[in-house]
Amino acid sequence: MSKRFYITTAIDYVNGAPHLGHAYEKVVTDVIARGRSSLGEETFFLTGLDEHGQKVQQAALAEHKDPQAYVDELAALWQDFAARLNLSNNDFVRTTQPRHKQVVGALLTKLHDQGDIYKAEYRGWYSWRQETFLTDKDRNPDGTWDPIYGEVKELVEQNWYFKMGRHQQWLIDHIESHPDFVYPDNRRNEVLGFLRKEQLADLCISRPRERLNWGIPMPFDPDYVNYVWFDALTNYITVPASLGDPAILGALPALAAAFEPKNPPASLWPADVHVIGKDILKFHAVYWPIMLHAAGIALPRQIVVHGWWQKNGSKISKATGNIVDPIAIIEEWGLDAFRFYVLRELDIGPDGNWTDAGFAARYTAELANGLGNLVNRSLSMLHRYRDGLVPAPAADLAGEAATAVEQVRSQLARHELQPSLQSIWTLITRANQYVDQTAPFKLAKEPEQAKRLDEVLYNLAEVCRVIAVLLWPFLPATACRIYRQLGLDNEPKIGTDAAWGGLKPGHKIGRPEALFPRKDLA
Ligand code: MSP
Repeated sequence: MSKRFYITTAIDYVNGAPHLGHAYEKVVTDVIARGRSSLGEETFFLTGLDEHGQKVQQAALAEHKDPQAYVDELAALWQDFAARLNLSNNDFVRTTQPRHKQVVGALLTKLHDQGDIYKAEYRGWYSWRQETFLTDKDRNPDGTWDPIYGEVKELVEQNWYFKMGRHQQWLIDHIESHPDFVYPDNRRNEVLGFLRKEQLADLCISRPRERLNWGIPMPFDPDYVNYVWFDALTNYITVPASLGDPAILGALPALAAAFEPKNPPASLWPADVHVIGKDILKFHAVYWPIMLHAAGIALPRQIVVHGWWQKNGSKISKATGNIVDPIAIIEEWGLDAFRFYVLRELDIGPDGNWTDAGFAARYTAELANGLGNLVNRSLSMLHRYRDGLVPAPAADLAGEAATAVEQVRSQLARHELQPSLQSIWTLITRANQYVDQTAPFKLAKEPEQAKRLDEVLYNLAEVCRVIAVLLWPFLPATACRIYRQLGLDNEPKIGTDAAWGGLKPGHKIGRPEALFPRKDLA
């Protein structure tokens, strides 16, 4: 039982429809997962939904629906969305699933039994919209509250607290001694800056049931439910636990009885990568490691933090209508065009800006005229001049292909997705140039050039094959289509298929068809 590369996305709030930000995070995670699988690692990719809390309770009420029925309906839409994005996820976790409630219950019980959870009075300014207490530091300079907080009222109540503060120095030491724990570096510095400057308070992890009942009950106090972030973060260990992972069941032995033994049990934990957006960094790089540490569970190896998308330079917002609907884009342009644009436009880390004109320009230049044209003319010429039969191997482009393979291998291992696409497109551009330089359409008119034409046609077909291998983590459907057009039917993987010379002489290729039809941009 060797440990699988385990990667997760944040779990999305189930209110409303998925938008560009959700789609982006899932595609990035899928590419990292597929990249590892392409390199030969066994992977496990988890995504899912965060279904408890005040907002869901209110939204269900507003539609006169039972909260469970309300989230069930929306969950179907979100699961369909994951499939539309061609995600390679192995499971889909929902925080209302019994398995998740069991894991949260076991974690809370253990921390309570150890004396890590206590009850105390809380008095504070509470934002209903954000489901969080605010401090005076959150006020505007004139003393008012920002409208993002909605209604803010003073609240006094008893609640359950998790002793988080006492682990502050331990966490600083951990982040300092694990330079890759938070990626990229500027986000790591942000966490360290916060931890060094501010005194970490204990974390309020409950809400009185009379105010919020749409949550997981506190196992030791029926008048309270668990407050959402503690519930949500725990999703990352729910699935390993439910699959019998000894790394979790060893720390939470009460769960061994809850889940049917699996043969063999999964080995997933610790997670290799949690992919998240910049707004939820503190929860993942401060709360989550401390929760795990207190429970005696190993820490995830890395938190990868991506930036936020805007559209036309302004915040994406349903209220102002400044939105990008990923489903509409996919329907109009195709899924892989969408995946390509978000990955090529934005590196993991900085913020990005969506423009429709930028999307169309990349589609035309890089997909239709770059990749699509190369594959289409290479395979069409092989049909026209050699009946679709692969000639004897030749290696004019072998060196450049090997360079691209080496670059993409190391870039994928470092989550450098945008640079990987640049490496692949350098090869595509070079191959298109090669067509222009060798002019196979002229060679075809000169019978004494037959051998040279064979060489050129081999180089072109084979470079298309290597490009498909490299593209698979990013544009899996396109990579498989190129493979099928080449008369090959497996899923191309870097670990096994990237070496030059994969196409054998005499092999019959399939029918070429346009990968990215040119659009009338008028
Ligand atoms: N439910 C919490 C996460 C719990 S994880 C244990 C949550 N949900 S969310 O639906 O609001 O956001 C889900 C993810 O989408 C987050 O990582 C967030 O950063 C990301 N994005 C939301 N809007 C975004 C953009 N405009 N651009 C890029 N990503 C964005 O937070």
